[in-house]
Amino acid sequence: MDYFSHFKIWVLTLSLIFQSVYGFYLPGSYPHKYNVGEALSVKVNSITSIDTEMPFSYYSLPFCQPQDGVKDSAENLGELLMGDRIENSPYRFKMHVNESEIFLCRTEPLSADNYKLLKKRIDEMYQVNLILDNLPAIRYTRKESYLLRWTGYPVGIKVQDTYYVFNHLKFTVLVHKYEEANVARVMGTGDAAEVIPTIGNEGSDIPGYMVVGFEVVPCNFMHNVQSVKNSKMYDKYPSPIKCDPTTVAMPIKENEPIVFTYEVTFEESDIKWPSRWDAYLKMEGSKVHWFSIMNSLMVITFLAGIVLVIFLRTVRRDLTRYEELDKEAQAQMNEELSGWKLVVGDVFRAPTNASLLCVMVGDGVQILGMAVVTILFAALGFMSPASRGTLITGMLIFYMILGIAAGYVAVRLWRTIGCGDHKRWISVSWRAACFFPGIAFFILTILNFLLWGSHSTGAIPFSLFVILILLWFCISVPLTLIGGLWGKGTPY
Ligand SMILES: *[C@@H]1O[C@H](CO)[C@@H](O)[C@H](O)[C@H]1NC(C)=O
Repeated sequence: MDYFSHFKIWVLTLSLIFQSVYGFYLPGSYPHKYNVGEALSVKVNSITSIDTEMPFSYYSLPFCQPQDGVKDSAENLGELLMGDRIENSPYRFKMHVNESEIFLCRTEPLSADNYKLLKKRIDEMYQVNLILDNLPAIRYTRKESYLLRWTGYPVGIKVQDTYYVFNHLKFTVLVHKYEEANVARVMGTGDAAEVIPTIGNEGSDIPGYMVVGFEVVPCNFMHNVQSVKNSKMYDKYPSPIKCDPTTVAMPIKENEPIVFTYEVTFEESDIKWPSRWDAYLKMEGSKVHWFSIMNSLMVITFLAGIVLVIFLRTVRRDLTRYEELDKEAQAQMNEELSGWKLVVGDVFRAPTNASLLCVMVGDGVQILGMAVVTILFAALGFMSPASRGTLITGMLIFYMILGIAAGYVAVRLWRTIGCGDHKRWISVSWRAACFFPGIAFFILTILNFLLWGSHSTGAIPFSLFVILILLWFCISVPLTLIGGLWGKGTPY
């Protein structure tokens, strides 16, 4: 983290505050028109693995770097918290211009460390995640007669103990013709002219396109390392490149450079701009999610059943013992005093650690409320996956605001239980404000040290840590105290 990145995180914080004040800004939420020939640049996100769940920066591997240096382009705090690290990449296209055999770079000869690292990342099934105009790259694979859809493509592949890096990428960009009328309907507002930058009358004649799909086919091609010795980035590769995803040709070797190339074709598509995200929402993965949701529901029901049975047995055993103990007293009791009324004294007794109970109930309400409000907003489409990071940003904001509910519920319950003097409401609200964030902070710090140690992009930068603490202290804590004051009501 250099000085600039720290500065950037503070700017993102300011934008978080403005976002919460002026409503949500959705990045990529209205169409961008590209004129024919206009530059399109691909961004890279962290490389990820479903195997290790630990994201790393794309440039931690020996890939080609952009000519003007690697730059961060995070848009909100949520992205950083999710471990996304979006950076620029050397891949760039010209709108509606097909290009083939573009030479990207010849890396330095692989050092022993880099060679080992590449093999490790391939073994761990790491994926490269590319983004064009806010759309993640999609890859299709054929399994028997099914077409499977994936985001990202693997770093490489291991075939019979030999490692291959995908060194040639075949991009397909789906585009849709830009029409003013089309866009006005997309925005659904009368004042579309205000929102969309107007290009002017003469501008309308130039055909413009919107990006509605981004596909990638990774290939391994036998490059001639010597032939590109003097080539520069974006020069034409001297011989034709045939991209065949079913075969591999060029293994990685220590002390040998890797050559990277790519090609791009533009295809006009019927997909309209508003539905360009449909493909991602209909991923094969969603079926798996339903399955795992059902799975966890069943596990929860099963566990709850066990707890219930144990609980019932305990209560019943206690009751029988109780009945045996004072059989004589029972004889004198009238018929009404039976069943649960026997345990009335226990049920309405204040628990030994009343303030902890109040604090936990208050924090529980806060977290539950955050979940409900977030899901509600997500269902209304405010936090679509098209705007990376807004889900987490939204959760943060709702959590902070709902501090008021935590304070209110905790103090209210404290009053209801009625133990101790009601003047201690301040201490109860303080504890409600610190309890869950304290635990979360403790766990996060430990996890973060582990991630820092492994240089994963999942680690939260130090300045972000400071900001989270400041936000908590300046917004969440005061709101919890206000909630507590409100819950206290008038002293009785
Ligand atoms: C680019 O290539 C695709 C596929 O071959 C073709 O359909 C399309 O018309 C080409 N576009 C241009 C601008 O040449």
